[in-house]
Amino acid sequence: MHIIHTISELRQWRAQAGRVAFVPTMGNLHQGHLALVEEAHRRADAVVVSIFVNRLQFGQGEDFDRYPRTLQEDADKLRGAGVAVLFAPDEKELYPRVAQEYNVEPPHLQNELCGRFRPGHFRGVATVVCKLFNIVQPDVACFGKKDYQQLAVIRGMTEDLNMPVEIVPVDTGRAADGLALSSRNAYLSPEERAQAPQLYALLLDMAAQIRGGRQDYAQMEEAAVARLTAQGWEVDYVEVRHGGNLAVAHAGDKHVVVLAAARLGHTRLIDNIEINLDAGFQAA
Ligand code: PAF
Repeated sequence: MHIIHTISELRQWRAQAGRVAFVPTMGNLHQGHLALVEEAHRRADAVVVSIFVNRLQFGQGEDFDRYPRTLQEDADKLRGAGVAVLFAPDEKELYPRVAQEYNVEPPHLQNELCGRFRPGHFRGVATVVCKLFNIVQPDVACFGKKDYQQLAVIRGMTEDLNMPVEIVPVDTGRAADGLALSSRNAYLSPEERAQAPQLYALLLDMAAQIRGGRQDYAQMEEAAVARLTAQGWEVDYVEVRHGGNLAVAHAGDKHVVVLAAARLGHTRLIDNIEINLDAGFQAA
């Protein structure tokens, strides 16, 4: 595996590579990331993984400084997973000017759901992913469905800006008790870790009710927030949205997603569950 730190070296490698699949990450890799790498292998001749903790997508008071940086361990995992290139630029390489003057501005969706609680986050994500796409020039890029809103923003960006990259969504990796795999799970105390699967349990219950015919989404959301709050969570939101464009869901929608974000102590967890009510529906 080549470990590349500069854009020029990456471009040289890219010039002689065939079909490339790309997995952008912020490192501290877990099984969920390796599932993205596995999917990437199915789609191309060579897999490139980037590790870059992107300051632009962290708000004030968020965990940019304490975000786990584990490059050596990550490199070992990626080598074992047959990755061709680990691209690990430093901040000066990716953001040579102190402030990034041109940015990718996602539409109103960036201010909803997680965006309501993390102003500027999706602008930072879209901007760095656009830069990485321009540098790596992948044919395909894999993104986890755990970050469902991020996936929607990236899909919208590639479609509207005619980026020649196929976006491949990959199912959320979960621990045996249902907790969605995330680098931030490492922040949970043992007590919080034991409690954390309550979030997915709630989503499963809501999905079962929706599959059973419930469509009073506003009431369901209110009950869900009350349930998590009673269990000791500080809830940002639980919302039922259209599974494609993330518009507010309406009775009769055939593809919906329930998305939730809530805090246990200082740790903010997100999760979601997709529900297809149309028997013939194929998730993209
Ligand atoms: O999902 C992530 O890890 C990040 O948001 C991404 C896509 C690598 C952009 O920094």
